[in-house]
Amino acid sequence: MNTATINSTATDEAERGPEPVGADESPILSVKNLSVKFQDNTAVDDVSFDVSPREVLAIVGESGSGKSVTSLAIMRLVELSSSGKVTDGQMRFTRAGGEVVDLRTAPEAKMRTIRGNDISMIFQEPLTSLNPVYSVGNQLAEVLRVHKGMSRREAKKGVIELMERVRIPEPERRARQYPHQMSGGMRQRVVIAMALACQPRILIADEPTTALDVTIQAQILALLRELKNDLDAGIIFITHDMGVVAEIADRVLVMRKSQAIETGQVGDIFARPRQPYTKNLLSAVPKLGAMNGTDSPALFHLDREEAS
Ligand SMILES: Nc1ncnc2c1ncn2[C@@H]1O[C@H](COP(=O)(O)OP(=O)(O)OP(=O)(O)O)[C@@H](O)[C@H]1O
Ligand SMILES: [Mg+2]
Repeated sequence: MNTATINSTATDEAERGPEPVGADESPILSVKNLSVKFQDNTAVDDVSFDVSPREVLAIVGESGSGKSVTSLAIMRLVELSSSGKVTDGQMRFTRAGGEVVDLRTAPEAKMRTIRGNDISMIFQEPLTSLNPVYSVGNQLAEVLRVHKGMSRREAKKGVIELMERVRIPEPERRARQYPHQMSGGMRQRVVIAMALACQPRILIADEPTTALDVTIQAQILALLRELKNDLDAGIIFITHDMGVVAEIADRVLVMRKSQAIETGQVGDIFARPRQPYTKNLLSAVPKLGAMNGTDSPALFHLDREEAS
């Protein structure tokens, strides 16, 4: 049983305030009691969460807590890419037409379709997702041709529209550039454009802004916020930074040592963290009081009881 579930009391429910985004819709992805092991090392231990349309779920926690392995498990890449094994749990994904897919048992061919179309990933290092020998315009065009069935000509126009949508200046010139000719921030915009082209139901962003400097990070977060509603997708945003969580997330899942120790709406977690570990994460955020219109970090230490 995970602590996060136990801690969700009736009082908490009453104080929760306005309906969260996507609360009236059934989840796109439902993960229940997920466990992943690497030989004797438990990387993910009994983790459960849902993701609804247009909802951003942030998975936050220290290095090694199991955030990335959780997303690899969703993509069913644990067994494919490592010696790890999903040992327990259920992962149910609802495709655009309503088809429900069991991500643990679906045939590999179906998983390939899902990885290519339904669930997209953005990584910390955009070069991971880009091919060094093709111009970014060619790579975006390829995605549009494969996923949207566009002709060469349509794709060429589509590429410029996509690049404008992710606010890449001078798209005609930029489209001819190779990934290594672009800055990290521009490359990450290209990767986001590729994800948009696939129109995924779930977008998993694993520390997509960590490698970027603070100003660029803020621009990328603003972009993702802007896109999240037109995407009509659920977003899983992995980070170790509670400041980023405040910027982007609707809901938070706090992981520590492979377990989900706390979960809730962003406002609730920031106002009333229950676990000492979550409090610590929050105390590391600069300008903690910003949400409350003051600079005092002490604000987040009022109005709460020590976790029992
Ligand atoms: N390929 C692998 N082989 C063996 N152990 C692994 C492998 N990948 C991850 N692990 C282990 O699984 C646990 C969870 O790792 P994971 O990468 O999910 O952490 P994380 O929360 O994403 O950390 P970070 O913030 O550093 O990215 C760690 O103990 C890690 O050492
Ligand atoms: Mg990771």
